[in-house]
Amino acid sequence: MLLIIRKDHRSICLYAAQQIAAEIRQKPHCVLGLATGSTPLGVYRELIRIHKKEGLDFSQVQTFNLDEYVNLPKDHNQSYYYFMKKYFFDHINIHPFSIHIPDGMAEDIETECLRYEEQILEAGGIDLQLLGIGSNGHIAFNEPFSSLGSRTRIKTLTEKTRRDNARYFASMKDVPKYAITMGVGTIMDSRKLILMATGQRKASAIKTTVEGPITARVPATIVQIHPYATILIDRVAASKLTQALKIAE
Ligand code: GLP
Repeated sequence: MLLIIRKDHRSICLYAAQQIAAEIRQKPHCVLGLATGSTPLGVYRELIRIHKKEGLDFSQVQTFNLDEYVNLPKDHNQSYYYFMKKYFFDHINIHPFSIHIPDGMAEDIETECLRYEEQILEAGGIDLQLLGIGSNGHIAFNEPFSSLGSRTRIKTLTEKTRRDNARYFASMKDVPKYAITMGVGTIMDSRKLILMATGQRKASAIKTTVEGPITARVPATIVQIHPYATILIDRVAASKLTQALKIAE
């Protein structure tokens, strides 16, 4: 596990975007795993810039998003489909059929989850998965006590996650209660992982993720045993680490 501590949110976003751009240049038909939330927004902004200014080509890239709310229509301004289009896909040359996001409106959620797993396999697996982290240590929507071997499935969101995400909705009662999420096992099958976190709100979760024992109580701790995982954090998110010896610039 590679731990990279940079001074602020902007610098970690630039670093992550460079890693993704390098992956695409090296393997133009690569499969990217993408995340939503406020943390990766700067990564998408920088990738759009590299696409526009340096011609980074997404025409052969395939993407799989980590998760999607259940029962939120695609055109709802808080659906992850809407988010990805607005902040990323509408600004790059990716083919619409190369974009994969779980369908939270599917009539048969179980079949949708199986289909999603199959699509990832058919694409050849995920080369590089971008991850954020919840303040309770969740990855995607794998809440505390999710099985560390889990696959794509429906999960009930915890009160804490719903409260964290309530800032994006008109009121707490509008925050969805369920989501389809890649499982912890699905995420761990990705060839490379980049987990990003910034700010005080994530400092405790990062301390446990990096220094704590591996436990389903904090699903992000599993990345400790991934062969190519990078934990990319700013100084504030790193502030509770006791073993980080050197602050890199
Ligand atoms: C949601 C998403 C996660 C994301 C988390 C943190 O719960 N499902 O994938 O990591 O939010 O979001 P933020 O980056 O806004 O703190």
